[in-house]
Amino acid sequence: MSLLNILIAPDPTLKQKTKPVVEVDDDVRQLMDDMLETMYEAPGIGLAAPQVGVLKQVLVIDVARQDEPPEPIRMANPEIVWLSDTLVSNSEGCLSLPEQYAEVTRPDRVKVRYLDETGTRQTLEADGLLATCIQHEIDHLSGILFVDHLSALKRNMILRRMAKWKRQQAA
Ligand code: NI
Repeated sequence: MSLLNILIAPDPTLKQKTKPVVEVDDDVRQLMDDMLETMYEAPGIGLAAPQVGVLKQVLVIDVARQDEPPEPIRMANPEIVWLSDTLVSNSEGCLSLPEQYAEVTRPDRVKVRYLDETGTRQTLEADGLLATCIQHEIDHLSGILFVDHLSALKRNMILRRMAKWKRQQAA
């Protein structure tokens, strides 16, 4: 396994659409494992392939608490097949927007269909933090960041802060 470089917004790769995985093969499994290692190291609870510069429909999630055993979820070609009418607002962050948090309103329950690491089709119904995380990560596969759900004013404020942060990191 190896750690991958996480792209920081604003970055054109984070705004691009991804392609479905043709087959969940060893390369895809390796990508999933590397993404999980990178996510745990960060640390974070979700990571999508575009965040490591790979324009494929692959994401990983683990919302288990620190005092609980890990519960890694690996998804290829995830597709939301149902969203609840009930909405909920949660504070969201993103490994591509370090130290930035904002309230995002989304459906509070979701049903998602995907291929697991063995290529088997799975359906998962989720609520709470997992439901939020699934929607956030699937957004990444369409080039959507959590700040895209905010007003232009708030979004631009955060993106300007990130651009400054990147300049400081580079200096
Ligand atoms: Ni994110």
